[in-house]
Amino acid sequence: MRGLLDKRVLITGGAGGIGLATAKRFLEEGSRVAILDRDAAACRSAQQQLPGLQGTILADVSDDKAVARAFQELDGLFGGLDVLINNAGISIRQPFLSITPEQWRTVTGVNLDGVFLVAQQAARRMLAGNGGVILNMGSTNGLVGYHYYADYNAGKAGVIELSRSMALELGPTIRVNAVCPGFIMTPMQEAEYTPEMRRSFENKIPLRKLGKPEDVAALFAFLASDEAAFISGQYFVIDGGEIAGGLASQA
Ligand SMILES: NC(=O)c1ccc[n+]([C@@H]2O[C@H](COP(=O)([O-])OP(=O)(O)OC[C@H]3O[C@@H](n4cnc5c(N)ncnc54)[C@H](O)[C@@H]3O)[C@@H](O)[C@H]2O)c1
Repeated sequence: MRGLLDKRVLITGGAGGIGLATAKRFLEEGSRVAILDRDAAACRSAQQQLPGLQGTILADVSDDKAVARAFQELDGLFGGLDVLINNAGISIRQPFLSITPEQWRTVTGVNLDGVFLVAQQAARRMLAGNGGVILNMGSTNGLVGYHYYADYNAGKAGVIELSRSMALELGPTIRVNAVCPGFIMTPMQEAEYTPEMRRSFENKIPLRKLGKPEDVAALFAFLASDEAAFISGQYFVIDGGEIAGGLASQA
């Protein structure tokens, strides 16, 4: 991709799954990459797997004070920021009527508040520097309803609207977009899904396969690069065609 060489890139939730694959991809593009994650053991493992990482910063994205401290650490490391991959997120499977107020706050606290807190710190630095790109992690769950993830779905829908609003206020200096994956097989899900579960998901997807973390990493790389210089305020679905149809399209 054009324009990623030597760019200073921060990836939240970068110690695992899609975030780790994205860190690897940006290192391959010649970027300078740091990750921010709340899992210390996973950060150590990421640093071992990707020795090119410039740093790992420990913080919980849902804690505003921890995020502010993390960015002071980042200032010492990079002295600014060009690209933010705002990826950290969690989900808890639970019927709507069983979601406790505490669970609601935990899930939206990471997935929506966390995206806001990190984006605000990043945007201040990009505006003071040479501009930049912010890519927020949404989901197909933010676009259509899914059973048993009401808190997650609502938070991801919020991320999509937050991204549009940020694009309006932060342009022309910063481009902002959201990325909305469908089923992506991270190592954790690989261990969790039985072969039957996997087949049933695959059968619902026109491309008849689940996505790989590297597929999403490639989309992040494109959207962060100069190839996407005229793209802002949008969301990009990467789901093998899963949500292309409605009920009427089901065979
Ligand atoms: N895997 C999928 O199918 C899928 C689909 C759509 C969207 N997403 C989104 O992609 C993102 C990454 O998902 P993944 O599947 O790679 O998950 P994962 O669990 O494999 O990785 C998430 C990473 O985020 C970190 N993290 C979690 N909460 C954090 C917090 N409060 N502060 C800092 N770090 C935190 C974890 O330690 C972990 O390293 C999430 O936002 C998720 O909602 C995933």
